[in-house]
Amino acid sequence: MNRKKIVAGNWKMNMTIEESGKLINQLKEISKNNVEIKIAPSFTNLHSAISLLSNSEIEVIAQNVHAENRGAYTGEISPEMLTSIGIKTVIIGHSERRKYFNETDMVLSKKVKAAIENSLNVIFCVGEELSDRENGNQFEIIKTQLNSTLMDLDIIEIKNIVIAYEPVWAIGTGITANTHQIQEMHEFIRELINKKFGHEISTKIRILYGGSVKPINAKEIFSLEDVDGGLIGGASLIFSDFFKIVNAANG
Ligand code: PGA
Repeated sequence: MNRKKIVAGNWKMNMTIEESGKLINQLKEISKNNVEIKIAPSFTNLHSAISLLSNSEIEVIAQNVHAENRGAYTGEISPEMLTSIGIKTVIIGHSERRKYFNETDMVLSKKVKAAIENSLNVIFCVGEELSDRENGNQFEIIKTQLNSTLMDLDIIEIKNIVIAYEPVWAIGTGITANTHQIQEMHEFIRELINKKFGHEISTKIRILYGGSVKPINAKEIFSLEDVDGGLIGGASLIFSDFFKIVNAANG
């Protein structure tokens, strides 16, 4: 199955408006190929990023969204606010949101539903903690995270979803899961999708790997059978690194 690879840069809470503009001007040099390139700047940089990239195929996406469209939720950003500035995709379920902002599977499930109702695509993150892996519970954890969120969706809604497998112990630590661990988990996730949504959807859904993807390991990770690209944190802030990672996905 030939699935188009995605390389998505998650800028997290980095980049002032000036820094963002500078990096985006460099990114414009990346000429397009066979890879879907996405960047997720902070909310304050989204609008300007979209206009700077208006003639580019690089997609600007959001790092988070609230489950309601309007209301008394001080400090939150709604799905319709995102779509009103041209955002088409949002990251939901990142482990930093789960850990530092107490986003439970129940909250995440509502966010996914709201995003889809507002015609947003979702990059949905799952991942186990180091202790889960040490105890051999990684498959159970991922299954539970998926069961309580994506498995409620119907066959049309699931088409809006890209899954990102991000073992928490590999995020920002410089430790990458080894290729066996990555392929094994991606295959496991695809099989869960197969059981719930059928063969066609499971062969089409894209599953990204995230967690210390760097120029030096990207090619090997992206060559794995069930890996369809990456969600890149630290390395997406450095133009030359991101550029190399995109090239690695290009084959
Ligand atoms: P990292 O982050 O590449 O810095 O490990 C990945 C992520 O959090 O998506």
